[in-house]
Amino acid sequence: MEMETHSTGLKILPRTKYPCRFTLTKLLSFLLILLPLVIILHFQASSFTYPTSPSWPFSYLYNPTHSSQSEQIETLTTKLKDSITFLPLKDIRYSKFPLEGNTWFMSSLNSTFEENEPRYLFFPSNSSKGRVLCFKGRNSRDGTKNTYALAWPDALPPSATLVEGLTFVSNTYFTHENILHGYNAITPFVSWSMKNQCLKPSRWVLLHWGEVKTKMGSWVWNLAKAMFGDVAVEIFANGDGPYCFEKAVVMRHDMEGMGEQKKLRVFDLLRCKAREACSVDPMGRGKEMNEKGTPIIRLTLLMRRGARSFKNEEVVKGIFRKECERFEGCVLSVIQSDDLSFCDQVRAMTNTDILASPHGAQQTNMLFMDRGSSVMEFFPKGWLEHAGEGQYVYHWTATDTGMKHQGGWWDTVGEECPNPEQELECFTFYKNSRIGHNETYFTEWARKVLNEVRVTKLKQAPKEHVNSSACEC
Ligand SMILES: *[C@@H]1O[C@H](CO)[C@@H](O)[C@H](O)[C@H]1NC(C)=O
Ligand SMILES: *[C@@H]1O[C@H](CO)[C@@H](O)[C@H](O)[C@H]1NC(C)=O
Ligand SMILES: *[C@@H]1O[C@H](CO)[C@@H](O)[C@H](O)[C@H]1NC(C)=O
Ligand SMILES: *[C@@H]1O[C@H](CO)[C@@H](O)[C@H](O)[C@H]1NC(C)=O
Repeated sequence: MEMETHSTGLKILPRTKYPCRFTLTKLLSFLLILLPLVIILHFQASSFTYPTSPSWPFSYLYNPTHSSQSEQIETLTTKLKDSITFLPLKDIRYSKFPLEGNTWFMSSLNSTFEENEPRYLFFPSNSSKGRVLCFKGRNSRDGTKNTYALAWPDALPPSATLVEGLTFVSNTYFTHENILHGYNAITPFVSWSMKNQCLKPSRWVLLHWGEVKTKMGSWVWNLAKAMFGDVAVEIFANGDGPYCFEKAVVMRHDMEGMGEQKKLRVFDLLRCKAREACSVDPMGRGKEMNEKGTPIIRLTLLMRRGARSFKNEEVVKGIFRKECERFEGCVLSVIQSDDLSFCDQVRAMTNTDILASPHGAQQTNMLFMDRGSSVMEFFPKGWLEHAGEGQYVYHWTATDTGMKHQGGWWDTVGEECPNPEQELECFTFYKNSRIGHNETYFTEWARKVLNEVRVTKLKQAPKEHVNSSACEC
């Protein structure tokens, strides 16, 4: 209502009622009849800075200084609105270091640092001096064509659309489609929400290099939905803007800044929310001990097709089946990640103590295992030498989510890359090759991990790992 009286051309998303429009119109026709009083209307229209101004508008008539004051205020407000400067969302001056400092996304604005929390920006806030965040442009291919600005709520840029409620603005250097990258982009919002009374957004705004994106990958979307509900992704259907967000949290650094303990609590929450959304009851998975008092150990081979799949899947299955059969209490499952729905993946991981899987995004599912579960990882030839630090990403994921990474196996057999001194070229050569096997190694490794898990399970009081307060948000 306040907006209605002083911001001409302001559109509101989603549609809101204008309870005063009717009365205003009636008043207007009444005043038009009383022609000499028409000027009063002008005063009223410009009286927005006096929310508590006298209800009797005629008082202005007796105070000539009010007229010039409110005109001045109106002039200043117009100037303020017209002086709002939109800057490109993607600042190519930082294209050599797009992830450093403020990043190349909204580069002029500093993030807020809080101990153990992801870095974020919140609008309106003290550091934005009470200004809200506005976007203009909705290009999906070039982030330099989309722009941002800050504006005071009572002097929004001309013809702005007010986007009501709380908006989660997620910009990632990677993508919201891929499981691993999407989960990196979404997690900091979970952390923020936990710290802020479990607030949920009214909408998502998704960006990649400042380009507007309209969806997350299905797995990522399901995870976000389990946590925050069925929240729409903003598609800026009202044209090119500007759009101003009533409240906005911006994340552009993924999980950077999050402390180890905080990450563990965030993933406890996500695990719990995902199981809840999928109606997976961790207590419903059967006895943890067999009748002889031997712990049940569930070993899952999570397979891939195509890039980084096993060259001979049947042989690999055979090796693990043989070892599992030899090991009392061991139950083997072999599943294809891309055959499974999100909830099937959550269910499979809830029922897994040891996840054995080739290097790849499907391993992100480890987060749905109980804390303290084990991960075994397989790499194609060439990765150890050429893949750099990035190959340890699932070691880090295991640490972040409270799992135990039991190491990797790097294939050594296969074609050599043609120019070993060309690092990048060589990595590209090996990147998506398929993975062989070593029966002796796999057998000994499986036995060692199974033994360790058995010892841990024997020490553990049954169901100790289920933390009922983890789902509190
Ligand atoms: C951002 O931080 C830098 C360095 O701390 C400071 O010089 C600059 O004024 C800050 N900018 C804003 C917009 O707060
Ligand atoms: C913002 O500033 C006001 C006034 O200085 C202060 O009372 C308030 O605590 C600040 N809010 C935050 C979140 O820092
Ligand atoms: C297979 O693994 C065993 C045990 O670690 C090792 O001794 C052997 O050299 C490996 N074979 C090949 C071909 O790498
Ligand atoms: C259970 O979870 C809560 C919140 O995540 C945490 O504070 C608490 O320490 C956890 N308790 C146990 C026994 O792990």
